[in-house]
Amino acid sequence: MLGGTEFVGRAVTDAALERDWDVTVFHRGRHAPPPGVRALTGDRTAGPHGLAALAESGQDWDLVVDTWSGAPAAVRDAARLLSGRAGHFAYVSSRSVYAHPAAPGLDENGPLVAGASPDDGGDVPYDRAKRGGELAALDAFGDRALLARAGLIIGPGENIGRLPWWLTRIARGGPVIAPGRPGAELQYIDARDLADWILDAAAGGLHGAYNTVSRPGHTTMGELLEACVRVTGSDAELRWTDPEVLLAAGVEPWSDLPIWLPPGELYDTLHRGDHTRAYAAGLRCRPVEETVADTWTWLRALGGAAPQRPDRPAVGLDPLLEAKLLAL
Ligand SMILES: NC(=O)c1ccc[n+]([C@@H]2O[C@H](COP(=O)([O-])OP(=O)(O)OC[C@H]3O[C@@H](n4cnc5c(N)ncnc54)[C@H](OP(=O)(O)O)[C@@H]3O)[C@@H](O)[C@H]2O)c1
Repeated sequence: MLGGTEFVGRAVTDAALERDWDVTVFHRGRHAPPPGVRALTGDRTAGPHGLAALAESGQDWDLVVDTWSGAPAAVRDAARLLSGRAGHFAYVSSRSVYAHPAAPGLDENGPLVAGASPDDGGDVPYDRAKRGGELAALDAFGDRALLARAGLIIGPGENIGRLPWWLTRIARGGPVIAPGRPGAELQYIDARDLADWILDAAAGGLHGAYNTVSRPGHTTMGELLEACVRVTGSDAELRWTDPEVLLAAGVEPWSDLPIWLPPGELYDTLHRGDHTRAYAAGLRCRPVEETVADTWTWLRALGGAAPQRPDRPAVGLDPLLEAKLLAL
């Protein structure tokens, strides 16, 4: 595991340990690695000498999983170093690699953004960084490279704050702004289902790109929020509010009210992608109730304070704006 101590990488590490696989995590050492792994430390942004612990470990691996989402030089350097010492390379990519706007139902053959070059330096836009990561993985591993193009990822360990915000807000109770229509279909993946699929697919020798997302409509906005009400045991009252009202009040979809997008291009891109290739290759998505309940259990064990990635903005509706909307 390149990384492997936070949200998605941690889910992959845990899934591999559950299978009794021998796991090495390579990371900076800022988060504790789970018990039972071999930990190597280094800095992927520090050029080739940042990978010294990997280079000098004297070990070979059946599989490398990489979640890197910054400039692709880090993927290139690690993939090149490991191509002769590892069987397969799975890169956790993103459906952001599709040229925007990705039409509803778009499959893995859709047009792509230009990948950032590994020589581009540090600050590259996310979509081009992820495509650059894919290209670096393919360059070093060819048909031993698996590209898992995830959509929205939620579940225990989430350090973006989307489902944690909804759970925390709904747990507080009272009237809660619920955006749009309860029947609006959502598409996402639980990090643990993504992890299991990556390990199965890589072990089975799959390669190339897969949209690793649930089918559209695996759940709806209403089912998601009602599950939050149930698992928190809250008295929250969902007040379904028209998109036009929310937008006129200055609500930012996706960030102020996480996961929600009004009908339109962005909704089609994020919640209506094609999932059939990954499902045919074994992807299974657990019920939303389980994802919500387990995320709540995890949050409560942390005393309600979800971890927040420092390189992503905090999400959630400003209480003043919420009060204004509720008064309408
Ligand atoms: N959230 C979503 O909805 C969404 C959607 C689509 C795709 N994705 C993808 O999902 C993935 C998320 O992965 P993630 O949660 O595992 O986070 P990540 O940021 O890919 O990985 C964090 C890990 O990398 C290590 N690390 C960070 N900087 C390092 C450095 N300079 N050198 C060595 N190790 C370093 C950290 O180790 P320490 O222990 O040292 O901190 C930690 O273990 C990304 O690929 C993202 O693009 C996310």
